Amino acid sequence: MIAVTSQCSFRELAKLVGNTPLLALELLFRGQRRRLFAKAENFNFTGSIKDRMALHIMRKAYETGSLKPGAPIAEATSGNTGISFAALGHAMGHPVTIFMPDWMSQERKDLIRCFGAEVRLVSVQEGGFLGSIRLSEEWAARTLGGFLPCQFSNEANAEAHFTTTGPEIWAQLKILGLRPDAFVAGVGTGGTVMGVGRFLKQRNPAVKIHPVEPDNSPILRTGYKVGKHRIQGISDEFIPAIVKLDQLDEIIAVDDGDAIIMSQKLAKLGLGVGISSGANFIAALKAQEKLGKDAVVVTVFSDDNKKYLSTDLMKEEPVKAGFLSTEIELLGFNVANRICEMCQPDSTPAGFRR
Ligand SMILES: Cc1ncc(COP(=O)(O)O)c(C=O)c1O
Repeated sequence: MIAVTSQCSFRELAKLVGNTPLLALELLFRGQRRRLFAKAENFNFTGSIKDRMALHIMRKAYETGSLKPGAPIAEATSGNTGISFAALGHAMGHPVTIFMPDWMSQERKDLIRCFGAEVRLVSVQEGGFLGSIRLSEEWAARTLGGFLPCQFSNEANAEAHFTTTGPEIWAQLKILGLRPDAFVAGVGTGGTVMGVGRFLKQRNPAVKIHPVEPDNSPILRTGYKVGKHRIQGISDEFIPAIVKLDQLDEIIAVDDGDAIIMSQKLAKLGLGVGISSGANFIAALKAQEKLGKDAVVVTVFSDDNKKYLSTDLMKEEPVKAGFLSTEIELLGFNVANRICEMCQPDSTPAGFRR
């Protein structure tokens, strides 16, 4: 008989987070045959890469005693992190409060609520994203035993990718007889690009690690909030504390319209991914342009497209001069299998084994 408990354990939830498929996408770019790799992070428990970080931060917090069973959790987030903490937190028996800017997509707000979390929307007048962080800190100060993951400054965020996403990419390419030449990822908290980057640089110091940001809102390049963009999940309003630009290679900029058209093209291939995935794909191609057409460039498809049904992703996007998406013809994709739990390579770090 299967034992049924009222709450899920880390061990059980870990089986549903990470170890995602690696896609090898075949394409023609300006008539030239190319291949780019992307981790299909939409296969995670709640459909986004943020599950990796949320699970790891909660596990570390249990280990250090900063999160006690049943204690409330709150976080400031632009959406996917809120969905991850709402689902994983409630699965483990924690009440969850999410502070988020009120302009995020309706789907994100509804999903967080449907997992049982409380959503506190923060207007531009209240400070938008920075206001959400301030309000979450005030919540922590007045809530006894309350746990604040602090995804923008918590090193466990990048560690989640150092111990899972990075080793998975390395192992999945190794099975194909390949090594990555470059990794690119849009910067929200920067956890993905910093954690994967550190792992891959440790394995091969020559690998290029590029942070990606919207061309319409170049916060990494200017250091402050400038312009507006539609790539939800990246480039919030500031440079997060865990982002160390001096440990990374050049920033790659992608126009949000180009990212939208790219995501729409990926959907036509059956890959229903979000806008930041389109941006990452364009950025991967830009990185390959610098390194040569046969360079092994890897990125992540951070989430699926279902959270964007009410956004411009579902509308016709005007083409602007300089877009790369219109010069890409997607031909198809192969899938590098997930790593078999029973046959992981010895070189995989202990943190990756479940
Ligand atoms: C859709 C989407 N893409 C990309 C990112 C960026 O990931 P990271 O926070 O690891 O930089 C996020 C983060 O929330 C996201 O929600």
